[in-house]
Amino acid sequence: MAMDLVGALTKEQTVRLGKQGYLALPEFASAAEVAEIGAIFDRLLASKAGWQDGNQFDLAGTDDGGAPKLPQILYPSRYAPALKNHAVVQRARQIAEAYFGERPFADHGEHMIFKPPRDGAVTPWHQDQAYHDPALDERALNFWIPLDDCDEQNGCMHYVPGSNRLDVLPHHSIGHDPSVHGLEVDEPETYARQSVSCPLPAGGCVIHLPTTLHYAGPNPSARQRRAYILIMQVEGTKRSVPVDNYWMREKRTARMVREGQATSR
Ligand code: NI
Repeated sequence: MAMDLVGALTKEQTVRLGKQGYLALPEFASAAEVAEIGAIFDRLLASKAGWQDGNQFDLAGTDDGGAPKLPQILYPSRYAPALKNHAVVQRARQIAEAYFGERPFADHGEHMIFKPPRDGAVTPWHQDQAYHDPALDERALNFWIPLDDCDEQNGCMHYVPGSNRLDVLPHHSIGHDPSVHGLEVDEPETYARQSVSCPLPAGGCVIHLPTTLHYAGPNPSARQRRAYILIMQVEGTKRSVPVDNYWMREKRTARMVREGQATSR
């Protein structure tokens, strides 16, 4: 039963997370929670919530008017207050607090990613930390919660075991196009060869670390694949040498333009 999970990872799970860089939990959210969050997700997507603020966009495209292949919503709780302090959020927060031995930031990271049926785009190999502050080694747990059963046919997660012990690797924008939001690690085929897939039922969860290499395949199937993602973070460690993240400095996306216009209004 999902509710039993409240609290902390077992010692064995904690060791496995540190060793592999990821940890699958087949039961994390109840069927009722999945249905509730799924309905919110569908509503936010259909109403294009956050689009004007730059918080809804195509992770794998240029927002040029075509149908998005990998729609993403940042900060969904700003548009759906029911997600604030939701039981699922509290569950993730408690696990992170026990893991780090300190309270995670109150304003946790959150997003939703949709792989539409039949033409959902690939989420290329990347490390989450490649997107973030180059001066810090982040300390965070990323909770990836599928709201639909997911497997290799509709874009489940894949991981490179042990990649969490690598430093931040060089990345580039998808298709080497700085107007696309998403990043891909350089020479991804090197890592793909060492990867394992992580199929999960709806309401399961996989936790990964900031430098764990991960990927989700395309969705050529007739089934949708929705994922709700929570990032529970504590103060990072200052790096002696910052990451030279030129791949972020050169980014110029339509999303960033909308965000700039929203903040200057
Ligand atoms: Ni990621």
